[in-house]
Amino acid sequence: MAATLHRLVRATITTIVTLLAALSTVSVASADVSPMIVGGTRANINDYKYTVYLASTSGSQFCGGTLVKANKVVTAAHCTVGRTAASTRVVWGREDKQSSAGTVASVSSIWIHPSYTTATRGFDVSVLTLSTNLPAPYLPLATTADTALYAAGTQATILGWGTTSSGGSASRYLLKATVPVTSDATCSTAYGTSFVASAMVCAGYPNGGTDTCQGDSGGPMIAGGKLIGDTSWGRGCALAGYPGVYGRIATYNAAITAQL
Ligand code: ARG
Repeated sequence: MAATLHRLVRATITTIVTLLAALSTVSVASADVSPMIVGGTRANINDYKYTVYLASTSGSQFCGGTLVKANKVVTAAHCTVGRTAASTRVVWGREDKQSSAGTVASVSSIWIHPSYTTATRGFDVSVLTLSTNLPAPYLPLATTADTALYAAGTQATILGWGTTSSGGSASRYLLKATVPVTSDATCSTAYGTSFVASAMVCAGYPNGGTDTCQGDSGGPMIAGGKLIGDTSWGRGCALAGYPGVYGRIATYNAAITAQL
């Protein structure tokens, strides 16, 4: 009787240990399958040549941007506020930050939307003028006629060299992911009055998992072959119920175009 009980206890313990081992394997595996932007994959720079990054004079990447004309880059105001043109570089054609591929362009001037104060109040757009001309392709800006591109469910491409988790380290390589644009109502529910529908557009899955993150700011959100957003802000990264927030480029089309 005691021996039978012992066997039963030992068998139960073995089963529990096996289950725990299987569970930890599963969680390691699922953490490994989404290592990039957050939940993204490597992008080939040749497919997204207008995607650039902003760096300090020492070469350290701090934001993203989009080439919209030979000598003009659209980025986020919060990326350039407080910086001088002389201390800012635009790196073009360099998928791997540790390589020397592509071109490092100097910046001759920085325009920040005059109404910008902080990202959660909108106007988070900035235009850099480069000292050198860079080759096409240039990404067209969304216009006020592009309402369909801002409809909930539109699949948008996000790109950047930012962190692959909130508080994590930045990516060495350009990463990309696809996220659905959310409705304004969904974004208001998440962020209350910090979400300003005329100034911002949100994207992400209800359960999170895929998002831009720190260091991706200023970089492109693309739909219909146009720049519809610039990475701006969010609570954490890739959290369920908290989509990423992007500057609504269509709203700022005229102000940006005036700088081109
Ligand atoms: N503010 C960040 C940056 O400067 C971008 C954060 C985007 N956050 C998000 N959850 N999508 O790089």
